[in-house]
Amino acid sequence: MKRTTMILAAGQGTRMKSQMPKVLHKVMGKTMLDHVIDSALQLQSEKVVVIIGHGADQVRESVKNDHVAFIVQEQQLGTGHAVIISRDHIDPDSQVLVLYGDTPLISTETLESFASYHQEKGNDLTVLSMMADNPFGYGRLTRDSQGNLAGIVEQKDATDEQKLIKEVNTGIYLMDGRHLLDNLGNIKNDNNQKEYYLTDLVKIFKNEGLMIDSFVAPDADEFLGVNDRLGLAEANHILKNRINKFHMINGVTIVDPASTYIEKGVVIGADTVIHPNTHIKGNTVIGLNCSIGPNSNIENTVLGNYVTVLNSTVTDSKVDDKTKIGPYAYLRPGSDIGKNVKIGDFVEVKNSRIDDDSKVSHLTYVGDADVGKNVNLGCGVVFVNYDGVRKFRSTVGDNSFVGCNVNLVSPVNVSQNAYVAAGTTLTQDVPEHALAIGREKQRNIEGWVLRKRG
Ligand code: UD1
Ligand code: CA
Repeated sequence: MKRTTMILAAGQGTRMKSQMPKVLHKVMGKTMLDHVIDSALQLQSEKVVVIIGHGADQVRESVKNDHVAFIVQEQQLGTGHAVIISRDHIDPDSQVLVLYGDTPLISTETLESFASYHQEKGNDLTVLSMMADNPFGYGRLTRDSQGNLAGIVEQKDATDEQKLIKEVNTGIYLMDGRHLLDNLGNIKNDNNQKEYYLTDLVKIFKNEGLMIDSFVAPDADEFLGVNDRLGLAEANHILKNRINKFHMINGVTIVDPASTYIEKGVVIGADTVIHPNTHIKGNTVIGLNCSIGPNSNIENTVLGNYVTVLNSTVTDSKVDDKTKIGPYAYLRPGSDIGKNVKIGDFVEVKNSRIDDDSKVSHLTYVGDADVGKNVNLGCGVVFVNYDGVRKFRSTVGDNSFVGCNVNLVSPVNVSQNAYVAAGTTLTQDVPEHALAIGREKQRNIEGWVLRKRG
């Protein structure tokens, strides 16, 4: 069955008190709208149509996906109106799924069960409902004398008796495309809000003798609609816990889940331990048996197995097996660190390769360099890669030793098996087996202190 998904996202979201359209606020690093689009695409929607209005250009620009089409709803005359103006995108031979852009926690699994239910029952319209302890604000599902679904009544239109109903509308529906097209014209705005309610379709379908039904979702948390910053924090909290739980079930130890922030899509191998106050973001892949944190930030990075990252920040980089990073190291984009390497405290690496078994133990800057195997970079080594205008690259060959406080004025090459004496400012290449020493010869002035102090 072909499927078209409509995502309603035209509303202003006044209660966010934000310059930014509501659906662009982020939950666990991703905009609410992208969360919803991803769920729709995972459910195999041939076509995803997003209805936008407030901040339309900004919303459109934020979505980096060619499978998504946009419709601008200039005036927000109601959820029904949003679908009415999208009618040209509705294929009569498809199933239509309606989602909201501000409901980011909906899981693909729930959507799948919902879709199977709709299919198996042969329904023309299925409402995804939930049981709410506090149904205030939601549309209530009303039933006829036989207990069959009869309609949805909005909070503002409900009688006192209807307000007691706990089964509420999540705002998600599956409908037959042809029947939807046939009946869109029957949605009117004769209600207390003078809006075109999409919910009216339930009654309209029933009057046409079509099959309508509801599917009660098992977990109400998934339908949390974000209306303000409190809701945003709550959505973050729920999704964060869900992601942490997923990793723990897969064999990852998370010492303190409350202070661990892992974005969706991060891959972590079994027996890896995540220590408190650690953030792992973007397209990060972490291997088996690693120790990450405490107090570490890792983003868009690939870590091998048995890697340690302690109190450090690693971004857009690659670190191979058994390497130890930190404490207090900063690996900036393009750091490519080999196996069994040590990157110690206050070391910064950027756009550089450091090969297997090398050591950069403390207070060093490695920028735009290729460092070979089994190299020792002493304390306070600086690759002087920038002349104020351009950047230059340097190399240090295998088994070489660069002493403390050496400046490598790039571009410069130290061959393999070479030594550079401490305190040298290197401006020329160093051949194999040579010692480079570039510092003023020391002299001691006898009795100088006694004379100074008189
Ligand atoms: C809607 C449902 C209600 C349900 C609730 C669940 C209707 C009439 N009511 O109420 O039964 O319990 O959602 O959260 O559908 N939107 C547009 N264009 C519009 C109006 C709304 O794109 O003209 C978008 C909004 O941006 C939002 C979504 O549709 O993402 C829901 O709109 P909202 O006004 O919040 O509907 P509710 O009153 O909450
Ligand atoms: Ca709402």
